[in-house]
Amino acid sequence: MKSSSDQHPGKPALSPAETLEERNRRALAGGGEERIRKHHEAGKLTARERVDAFFDSGSFVELDRFVTHRCTDFDMQKQKYPGDGVVTGYGKVNGRQVFVYAQDFTVLGGSLGNACAAKICKVMEMAMKVGAPIIGMNDSGGARIQEGVFSLAGYADIFLRNTMASGVVPQISAIMGPCAGGAVYSPAITDFIFMVEDSAYMFITGPDVIKTVTHEQVSKEDLGGAQTHTAVSGVSHFARSDDKACLATIRELLSYLPSNNQEAPPIVPTADPADRDVPELDAVVPTDPRKPYDIHDIIHTTVDDGHFLEVHASYAMNIVVGFARFGGRSVGIVANQPAVLAGCLDIKASIKAARFVRFCDAFNIPLVSLVDVPGFLPGTDQEYGAIITHGAKLIYAYAEATVPKITLITRKAYGGAYIVMSSKHLRSDINMAYPTAEIAVMGPEGAVNIVYRKEIDAASDQVAAKQAFVDEYRSKFANPYQAAELGYIDAVIQPRQTRKRIISALDLLSTKRDQNPPRKHGSIPL
Ligand code: HXC
Repeated sequence: MKSSSDQHPGKPALSPAETLEERNRRALAGGGEERIRKHHEAGKLTARERVDAFFDSGSFVELDRFVTHRCTDFDMQKQKYPGDGVVTGYGKVNGRQVFVYAQDFTVLGGSLGNACAAKICKVMEMAMKVGAPIIGMNDSGGARIQEGVFSLAGYADIFLRNTMASGVVPQISAIMGPCAGGAVYSPAITDFIFMVEDSAYMFITGPDVIKTVTHEQVSKEDLGGAQTHTAVSGVSHFARSDDKACLATIRELLSYLPSNNQEAPPIVPTADPADRDVPELDAVVPTDPRKPYDIHDIIHTTVDDGHFLEVHASYAMNIVVGFARFGGRSVGIVANQPAVLAGCLDIKASIKAARFVRFCDAFNIPLVSLVDVPGFLPGTDQEYGAIITHGAKLIYAYAEATVPKITLITRKAYGGAYIVMSSKHLRSDINMAYPTAEIAVMGPEGAVNIVYRKEIDAASDQVAAKQAFVDEYRSKFANPYQAAELGYIDAVIQPRQTRKRIISALDLLSTKRDQNPPRKHGSIPL
């Protein structure tokens, strides 16, 4: 409803209580019935419905319900809506305090003016002050055109606070409608981005501008829909089918996280026994080192109750990252995936894992790394794309992490990739290996071709000669025992013992203290 006047000419003045009720009624009406109907027809919940669906029932407390913009250009004084197109406040998620802002597309297209930005900044600052996560529900036409640079300043204020809050409180962005232009950079600075399929899209420049500038034709969905950003660009970490599913997953994600960087993650009691053997694991890793297997089989059978919240599930699938619990404790799992690209590390996998490792370290979440990696992916694509720089990010992330670090080598750990994947040398705390582990500079085939090239060439039966060298190499290096003899592996364990050994290591490390040298901040190879 437009206009904020409480005076109704010809009608008796409202009592204070009635005035409040009337103002509340206007605020709750958002952009009006017609726009709400259109919004629902598009399969979307309104901002208020999203907030209600998200928080524990009845726990949401709204702030700044009556804030309005001060713009008078373009006759904007006639278009004042209480709340100015964003619902802000706080409430409980599984009993814990969480802040929210939810843009209301039914009010001026959820566009961001300066007053609306000030509301968002206020809850961001409160979230930092009290140490609680902040969730942004984005559904907006971007900078409010009528406010000009005043609205751009509002975005800048938000970006600044996103940056200041980074690593202090978890920041999660849900994209539930348009998010275009520079507006995308607030979500991009936050820790996790969720997108709703078919209604969310994100891009810096839309299809029309692209057509004009590059003559490229692309649909909104292909350019910046949920599928594009979860599987192709990696901008988004999760895609969900509708608003409710999206909000439910954010609640689930929060259950693994502490409220801020000075807390430990919550412990969630489980009936899953800590000393549970997992006999089926004895048969998961194939004896043939060239045969793939699905690393999810190890994850799902060992974690509490089989629950694993995978992050970036459709992007760089040669590495798997996500949250689970062992004995009630949250962990971040980073696992090479032998079923995709043989588990090689490439540019995308390195960036994906490095970002995840840094998030976990920032928020006191122990890291469990499952290693089966034949090396970095070879090729000009990778070299020209700067795999050197991007691979270094993962080394850097693991090396600087001071949270408990537990590593389990299930099969291959070759060369630089052995070092990168949370090796002892990068300050990992407990490093274990299965008897099937192969820890070496490279795989047997490649190694004998280099070391024994002359002998193989000179042999009368080259195939037999090569096989003999491969067998010799395999018995010497393609096992975990050289590393175990040197103390780089703390224990070689039977696969069935995986769960109890990880839980025992987490128990041990729950009082871990470690820190990095004092500095302003490191210079990660960006
Ligand atoms: C003011 C806006 C608006 C905006 C939409 N509206 N975007 N008002 N500023 N940026 C209003 C419309 O006038 C309309 O008002 C209502 O919101 C709904 O918009 P529709 O166009 O009718 O909706 P729809 O057809 O669903 O299209 C949605 C849309 C389109 C694709 C988002 O509105 C659009 O292209 N908007 C402009 C997007 C844009 O270019 N934004 C600036 C990006 S640059 P009524 O009264 O009719 O309901 C940017 C810079 C940020 O954001 C910089 C940060 C550094």
